[in-house]
Amino acid sequence: MQRIFISGASSGLGAALAQEYAAEGVILGLLARRKNRLSEVAAACRKQGAIVYIYVADITDTDKTEKCVQDFLRHAKGIDTVIANAGISTGSSKGGMYDTRTLLNVIDVNVSGVIRLVNSFLPTVIEQKYGRVVAISSVAAFFPLPGAYSASKIAVKSLMDSWRRQYGTRDLTFTTLYPGFVESEMTAGNSFKMPFIIPASQAAHLMKTAIEKRRSNYMFPFIWRPLMLALQLLPESLLAKLITRRKKP
Ligand SMILES: NC(=O)c1ccc[n+]([C@@H]2O[C@H](COP(=O)([O-])OP(=O)(O)OC[C@H]3O[C@@H](n4cnc5c(N)ncnc54)[C@H](OP(=O)(O)O)[C@@H]3O)[C@@H](O)[C@H]2O)c1
Repeated sequence: MQRIFISGASSGLGAALAQEYAAEGVILGLLARRKNRLSEVAAACRKQGAIVYIYVADITDTDKTEKCVQDFLRHAKGIDTVIANAGISTGSSKGGMYDTRTLLNVIDVNVSGVIRLVNSFLPTVIEQKYGRVVAISSVAAFFPLPGAYSASKIAVKSLMDSWRRQYGTRDLTFTTLYPGFVESEMTAGNSFKMPFIIPASQAAHLMKTAIEKRRSNYMFPFIWRPLMLALQLLPESLLAKLITRRKKP
């Protein structure tokens, strides 16, 4: 029996991950704000044989998130894999300026949301001495873009590194995933050409494999690894020009 909890499971990578894991003997906990979208994903997963609990909640609500986690733990009697996937981008700016609340909301969902979810599961995985703790960062963590998105994703990396150092063992693993561009609601509105973009189902398959292989850090698709190394070597002036041409994954 596999017990998996995924935040941001109503669309994109989270929904694709839910379907990638769904099978006979799998218990899924799916959290997001949109009930109708979560119900659609749950129905598809049930068709594949999974038992599914849906949690309509906002990851910025600490009490509600903890209650959802406690409910799932009660039903599933433990956890094997928790995936902190819920995330938002900064969106477009007005004349290059972002509103303070917009920036703070990105940090609240992308960083504090990861803390809320992972910290709620930590006592259980530590007691079990077993578990796969997963968070979704981005290649943007290594390529500071306008707004708070890159800052949020480097914070996710740092949090996961800290947890791994403190609690990581062979059986209790912490995997940070760094996708490049993936087809989802988040990228659907991008007007620029997104290099090396892959479907969410392909991304989900790569992510599940990396989690099962206990990878600490996994950037995909592969092409982004040499690309990111090369970008680190570019002078700041050239990077700034590149950034003003492209806005995000
Ligand atoms: N797509 C890419 O190219 C790409 C690249 C690198 C990293 N990522 C990361 O991958 C993750 C998934 O993104 P995606 O591309 O799949 O985008 P998406 O399709 O927009 O999915 C985002 C998910 O997060 C949920 N969510 C957003 N705010 C939430 C909140 N306050 N509380 C609870 N759930 C919330 C959304 O559900 P509701 O709206 O129903 O709440 C949705 O299920 C994010 O962390 C993103 O930063 C994506």
